[in-house]
Amino acid sequence: MRNLIDAVDLSPEELERMCDLAADIQANPGEYADACRGRRLATLFFEPSTRTRMSFESAMLTLGGTVLSMPDGATSSATKGESLADTIRVISCYADIIAMRHPFDGAARLAARYTGVPFINAGDGGHCHPTQTLADIMTIRSETGRLCNLTVGLCGDLLYGRTVHSLIRVLSRNEGIRFVLISPKELALPDYMMEGLEAEVTESLEEALPKLDILYMTRVQKERFEDEAQYERLKDAYILNAERMRLGGAQLRVLHPLPRVNEIAPEVDDDPRACYFKQVSYGRYMRMALILTLLREAQDSPRQATVPYAGSCPNRRCVCHRERCVPQEFIRTKDAVRCAWCEAEAVPETIG
Ligand code: NCD
Repeated sequence: MRNLIDAVDLSPEELERMCDLAADIQANPGEYADACRGRRLATLFFEPSTRTRMSFESAMLTLGGTVLSMPDGATSSATKGESLADTIRVISCYADIIAMRHPFDGAARLAARYTGVPFINAGDGGHCHPTQTLADIMTIRSETGRLCNLTVGLCGDLLYGRTVHSLIRVLSRNEGIRFVLISPKELALPDYMMEGLEAEVTESLEEALPKLDILYMTRVQKERFEDEAQYERLKDAYILNAERMRLGGAQLRVLHPLPRVNEIAPEVDDDPRACYFKQVSYGRYMRMALILTLLREAQDSPRQATVPYAGSCPNRRCVCHRERCVPQEFIRTKDAVRCAWCEAEAVPETIG
């Protein structure tokens, strides 16, 4: 049984193969119409979602499979106090594959530990969103013809934007990728993402635009802010409009995971360099390719190697603080000891 928790769980070769499979499904839909006949996908969304949930469901139905869907987190047994671990054990008895979205950072890794069937992370808090990355990668490959030698600007909420985190992880494995991180200081990339990353950091979208091949715009993630006044101050930090688009070259492609709020003016939609609606369509083909691949895989996902550490996770949005009975586990990265669930740098125990 194989899971997708983090986008880098797929090797670059597996990712290429998945893009090829998605392109083949797109070109020859009839050949895949029964590929998942008799298989059931459970979509378990504890957080609002329109496109990701429907993209998964549409993908499975188009492959001839069926879907079990929970209307929303508010109607699940979690409201009765059921643990995430138990919910996943139970759903594993009903479905052949599970896609889950959850508001807590690290919830996907916890759920994957208890699943009896292939498990897909459809977004865990502000942490990761690997299947959006599949959509982004196929869009970039289809639009530019390559996944290397690109200048990629990421703009907006780089702190809580989980799609940004997953995309950077995947692209940073490739040759010749130059990142330009465009955000207000308050919304800069989290420190666990900066480890080992070479990137230009700026607050100016105007300065960055002329050099970009890809501009990845993001929404300021209102639901993750503890301070509403701070959200109000930052929400319109960047607005891409027709005038700013004139600063970009002909090679520029604009992506956005959607939903957009104000960060891209509707007047940009007709610009041939705007790719965010095509991205939705690519995402569905990549989810089909992912479901097919995981249902065919025989090998198990390796379990992370944890290390002993006398300390704790400082991230209050981490699943280890929000769910009952979650053991505090740690991993060692190049520069630090981190929480095994959300990757925040662990803090040592204070004595006395
Ligand atoms: C993104 C998400 O949920 O993180 N949306 C999506 O899955 N397409 C981006 C967002 O909500 O801003």
